[in-house]
Amino acid sequence: MVQLRIRAANADIKTRMKLVPLKSLRLHPEANRVPRMPPEQNAEFQADIAERGVRVPIEIIAGRVIVDGRSRYLAARRLGIKRVPVIRAPLNGDDPVIYMLRAATKRRHLTDDQRACLAREEMEILSRIATRERARQGGLTGGRGRAKPSNSLPITSVGKQSRTKTSRGTVAVTYRVSERRIRAAQQLKQVAPQLYEQVKAGEQRLTVAKREADRESKRQEQRRLSRAARPHRDESNWEIRYGDCVEELAKLKPGTARLVFADPPYNQGIDYGPGRKADSLSDEAYLAWCRRWIKACVRVLTDDGSLWVMISDEYADHFGLLLREAGLHRRSWIKWYETFGVNCTNNFNRCSRHIFYCVKNPRRFVFNADAVSRPSDRQSKYADSRANPHGKLWDNVWCIPRLVENSRERLPDFPTQLPLALVRPIVLCASQPGDLVIDPFSGSGTTGVASVESVRRFIGIEANQKFARFAGERISMRS
Ligand SMILES: C[S@@+](CC[C@H](N)C(=O)[O-])C[C@H]1O[C@@H](n2cnc3c(N)ncnc32)[C@H](O)[C@@H]1O
Repeated sequence: MVQLRIRAANADIKTRMKLVPLKSLRLHPEANRVPRMPPEQNAEFQADIAERGVRVPIEIIAGRVIVDGRSRYLAARRLGIKRVPVIRAPLNGDDPVIYMLRAATKRRHLTDDQRACLAREEMEILSRIATRERARQGGLTGGRGRAKPSNSLPITSVGKQSRTKTSRGTVAVTYRVSERRIRAAQQLKQVAPQLYEQVKAGEQRLTVAKREADRESKRQEQRRLSRAARPHRDESNWEIRYGDCVEELAKLKPGTARLVFADPPYNQGIDYGPGRKADSLSDEAYLAWCRRWIKACVRVLTDDGSLWVMISDEYADHFGLLLREAGLHRRSWIKWYETFGVNCTNNFNRCSRHIFYCVKNPRRFVFNADAVSRPSDRQSKYADSRANPHGKLWDNVWCIPRLVENSRERLPDFPTQLPLALVRPIVLCASQPGDLVIDPFSGSGTTGVASVESVRRFIGIEANQKFARFAGERISMRS
């Protein structure tokens, strides 16, 4: 029974089909809305037409305009085929461009992202039709609405049921995609039309393209802020306060720093001036002090600010809790692999530290991905054209060599200087040009250098007067 019906339908097509000169056909001016076939598929398709000719009729509308069959038409042209079978497209009142889009969606293998783009195109056409309809009705009733001139093919008919009222939900069903995906395609088209075309052509994934568009708009924002902040890049934009961090932080206005980076004494008996004992407290005394300065740091953070704390193995587990107790949300627990450290004889060598990256508000924070991205394997190993040109985010293990005695960057007479390669990405990632960055344990002023060179404002606090003076000199050479 079913077979009989198919045969009948085929017979029907055959009777309605005509052979016409290829020259008499022309492509619809909006044919490019429909994505082209991928090259390999197209090669196979061309080979088939070369062998068997055009067997499926090309669908046309009045004036012999092609609304379905662009690939067959182009292949025939390339192969010098003179006459091709055509059939009148059963538009049933549909707009021809919508017909084209739907035909492509039904026949061809398209990804969900591509179908979302076609659904978006249909929505665009529908809204154009609606605008015209309103303008026409305004004209009929003597209203002031006027149709905007359009560069597209005249729309022959709106269809039996009013297509202008079709909602995104209905279109989503037709194209078998979620409304969310259509909305994402629409947003991408608005902010990054080139990336949108790549998604429609199947060369790029929508999520990747959207991420890329978001990053680009962040980059533009960064450039704008940088330009605005540059004239103020002078000594008035940073200071080193000599004193105790809890006391000095209390003097600052609350909610003013976008980023606080803290590399405190680790209670390991290092002499920062007042002797080794000052850095060898009981666990209780050390943790009670840490609670106090963490609280003071949180107070000065903006609502969308972040606190980054570096600590060694001994107190890492305690810090996880202390930061949570202070009301912060941990976004990442980063391991800094220093590439080499203290060699042990009967235990694993110590060559890493912990960086807790915490935010005040888990939904609102500054995160400039470009500052912490690297080339992906797709880019560097496989030269894959689909690779995101801006690479992928760093892993949560950062491999950055620590500064040894003879490192070029190493300053004399300071025991625990961090490499700029470690602090710079943190400053760039978690703050914007012009923002205030605070380091409550400024030491040799590494955070200050990273901040000033990237056009941030900076306040460093340091309890050792010699270090404070020295950090000031170091930063002023950079500012
Ligand atoms: C681990 S070092 C920081 C090193 C710094 N990140 C750098 O790259 O140079 C800790 C610093 O905190 C300072 N410090 C210790 N107790 C302090 C306090 N209560 N207030 C402010 N600074 C303090 C020490 O003098 C020392 O310079």
